[in-house]
Amino acid sequence: MSLSALKTFKNPRAKYNFEGRSCSITGVGSYVPARVVTNADLEKMVDTTDEWITSRTGIRARRVAASDEYTSDLAAHAATRAMQKAGVKPEEIDLIILATITPDMPFPATACIVQQKIGAYRAAAFDIEAACSGFIFGLEIGQQFIMSRTYNTVLVIGAEKLSSIVNWTDRNTCVLFGDGAGAAILQNRPESHGLLTACMGSDGQKADLLSMPGGGSRCPASTQSVAAGLHFLRMDGKETFKNAVQAMHNAAKEVLRRCELDITQIKCIIPHQANLRIINAVSERLGATPEQVFINLDRYGNTSAASVAIALDEAVEGGKIVRGDLVLLVVFGAGLTWGAAVIEW
Ligand code: COA
Repeated sequence: MSLSALKTFKNPRAKYNFEGRSCSITGVGSYVPARVVTNADLEKMVDTTDEWITSRTGIRARRVAASDEYTSDLAAHAATRAMQKAGVKPEEIDLIILATITPDMPFPATACIVQQKIGAYRAAAFDIEAACSGFIFGLEIGQQFIMSRTYNTVLVIGAEKLSSIVNWTDRNTCVLFGDGAGAAILQNRPESHGLLTACMGSDGQKADLLSMPGGGSRCPASTQSVAAGLHFLRMDGKETFKNAVQAMHNAAKEVLRRCELDITQIKCIIPHQANLRIINAVSERLGATPEQVFINLDRYGNTSAASVAIALDEAVEGGKIVRGDLVLLVVFGAGLTWGAAVIEW
């Protein structure tokens, strides 16, 4: 449903446009590394089959970055594309928020490395860590700065080189993940509504469901920690699955409620691309039709913080979202964390 059609019967979203100020996404961009690793390739590495992976997850292939290609490189490519589409020059960027669980290194922030790579010298830059929910957390943080008039142009990036923390001998996890990056430029665009609302949530009581125990202050790198495989991602798949469906459903309902929108008014739903069965379960509970749901996980697998950002870019590029459309993003990740956002494009 277009903006003009909605305005004819009610416009509850007027409250998201404060004194002529709004937070719009004026450009999105994405980048995935060139190397494609198919399920057939994984059959040669671990005891798995294309049939198992496809039927349990919907994933057919994923991208894997080169050994000399880092999260900051993927991020910089995606950011450059988003800036081009928004018509924004690097020096116009006030703030860079980069969401990742695979930073180039523990410090400095990968956002600072990206700042240097894209030449956004005026910007403040920091990383956030909300795992697969990171891009929506970044959107909400960026929105706060725009609406409060602190900044006018914010670059939000989700970027991951998950291949660097995946145990390529563990069939339970290595089939699920991939590398990539997506970015968005947030700006005040007074004539439209833009990002209507976003919600974020966390449950640290379930932190152990999905984690990488090694490499932090609790378990610094040592020969023992490396030998024990503590620097690889670990996951309780079944519990994660159940929590994902519940949390994504609740988050989506919450943002729809806040905007007084019905699911039928949403043109495009972009869920976190972790598992097709999770996406289908959430969509069914929301009462969404398959035509509303954007899916690209068959080609990329779960790219964590980059996931919905890449999907958003592809949905816009593919003409699935046009100006005025209502878009629902919904995510879930380690932490646990979850979030959702409604955007009027
Ligand atoms: N190939 C073949 N067999 C595999 C396999 C693989 N790649 N990975 C696991 N298996 C085996 C397991 O060893 C287990 O075998 P066992 O029963 O002999 O012990 C069996 O398959 C488990 O099968 P099942 O119970 O049907 O798995 P599942 O339906 O729970 O699916 C996941 C497993 C991981 C796909 C699913 O739990 C999942 O997607 N969870 C959420 C993961 C996720 O999205 N994480 C990120 C959230 S942001």
